[in-house]
Amino acid sequence: MFNAFLLFCLCRLHLIGVFGSSRNEMQSFSVMEGDSVTLHTGVTELHKGELTWHFVADNSLIALINRAYQAFSTMDGPDGRFRDRLKLDNNTGSLTIINIRSEHAGVYEAQIFSDNTSSKRFKVTVYARLPVPVLIFNSSQCSSSSQYNCSVLCSVVNVSAVSLSWYKGNSVLSSISVSDLSISLSLPLEVKYQDNNTYSCVINNTISNQTTHLDINTHCQPCSGSAFWTVFITTAVVGSLLTVAAVWMIRIYNNQRKTDHEGS
Ligand SMILES: *[C@@H]1O[C@H](CO)[C@@H](O)[C@H](O)[C@H]1NC(C)=O
Ligand SMILES: *[C@@H]1O[C@H](CO)[C@@H](O)[C@H](O)[C@H]1NC(C)=O
Ligand SMILES: *[C@@H]1O[C@H](CO)[C@@H](O)[C@H](O)[C@H]1NC(C)=O
Ligand SMILES: *[C@@H]1O[C@H](CO)[C@@H](O)[C@H](O)[C@H]1NC(C)=O
Ligand SMILES: *[C@@H]1O[C@H](CO)[C@@H](O)[C@H](O)[C@H]1NC(C)=O
Ligand SMILES: *[C@@H]1O[C@H](CO)[C@@H](O)[C@H](O)[C@H]1NC(C)=O
Ligand SMILES: *[C@@H]1O[C@H](CO)[C@@H](O)[C@H](O)[C@H]1NC(C)=O
Ligand SMILES: *[C@@H]1O[C@H](CO)[C@@H](O)[C@H](O)[C@H]1NC(C)=O
Repeated sequence: MFNAFLLFCLCRLHLIGVFGSSRNEMQSFSVMEGDSVTLHTGVTELHKGELTWHFVADNSLIALINRAYQAFSTMDGPDGRFRDRLKLDNNTGSLTIINIRSEHAGVYEAQIFSDNTSSKRFKVTVYARLPVPVLIFNSSQCSSSSQYNCSVLCSVVNVSAVSLSWYKGNSVLSSISVSDLSISLSLPLEVKYQDNNTYSCVINNTISNQTTHLDINTHCQPCSGSAFWTVFITTAVVGSLLTVAAVWMIRIYNNQRKTDHEGS
C-alpha cells in the first residue's frame, strides 16, 4: 500500500517535472535560418506508451514513438516540408529540426500517452540571415558643393523585420526600421573628409546583426580635387615627354641634314 502510494507520488512528480506547473505554458525559440533547434520533451527515458509530435499549423503528425508496437519514425508532412529535417531521440522523444527554413516556423506539440496523457507546446520563430550592408559612394556628385563632404549610402536588399542604422562610434546617428514585408532599404550619411571618428552601418533584427565599417581614408577621396590633380599631372607628364621627344627629333633632323650636306 505504502509502495503503491510512493509510486503514485513519484509518478506525479515525474509528470510535473516533464510538463512544468502550467499546462498552457509555451516555450519560445528564435532560430536563424539554416540553424537547428531541439525541442525537449523533458522526459529522461520514455519506457512505455506513445509519444507524438504534431506541426500545429496543418495538424500533421511528424514524429511518433510507440513502445508497444516498437514504432519509431519521423514523417515528411503532407507537403514534404520536413523531409530530411527531423531527428527524433529514441530515449527522450526530443525532436530536432535541422537546417531550418521559414516554412518550419510555427507551433509544435508533443503529446505523451503513458500513465497520464500530457502535452507540451513550442513556438518556433525563424529569422532570415542578414545580408552585410553595402556602402555606395556617389561619384556623379563631384561638384564644388560636395568638395568637403563625403556622401555615402548604406544599402541592403530584400530584408524584412530589421533596423538599419548609422553609428558614430557607439552612438546611433540615424536609423530606419521596417516590419514584415521584404524590401530594400538605404540610409544616407554625410561626413567631412578630415573626420577622425569611426562610422559604421549596422543592420539588425531581434537575434542578430551585421556591420560594415566606413573607412574615410580609403573610401572617401575628395573626387573633384583628385580628378583635377590626375588631369593636371597627366597633362604635365605627357607634355614634358612630348617636348623632350620634339627636341630630340629636331636635333636628329638637324644632324641628318648636316651629314647629308657634308656628304654631297
Ligand atoms: C528505441 O529504444 C527501444 C528501447 O528503449 C529499443 O527497443 C528500440 O529498438 C529502439 N529503436 C531504435 C530505432 O533505435
Ligand atoms: C494520472 O493517472 C492517475 C492514475 O494513474 C490518475 O489517478 C490521475 O487522475 C491522472 N491524472 C491526470 C491529470 O489525468
Ligand atoms: C548621388 O547624387 C545624385 C544626384 O545628386 C542623388 O540623386 C543620389 O541620391 C546620390 N547618391 C548617393 C549615394 O549619395
Ligand atoms: C527575397 O527574399 C525572399 C525570402 O526572404 C526570397 O524568397 C526571394 O527570392 C528574395 N528575392 C530576391 C530578389 O532576392
Ligand atoms: C535592433 O536593435 C535595437 C537595439 O540594439 C532594437 O531596439 C531593435 O528593436 C532591433 N531591431 C529589430 C528590427 O529587431
Ligand atoms: C556636409 O555635411 C554636414 C553634416 O556632416 C552637413 O551639415 C553640411 O550641410 C554638408 N555640407 C555640404 C556642402 O553638403
Ligand atoms: C584629426 O586628427 C588629426 C591628427 O590626428 C588632427 O590634426 C585633425 O585636426 C583631426 N581632425 C578633426 C576633424 O578632428
Ligand atoms: C551585434 O551582435 C553582437 C552579438 O552577436 C552584440 O555583441 C553587439 O552588441 C551587436 N551590435 C549591435 C550594434 O547591436
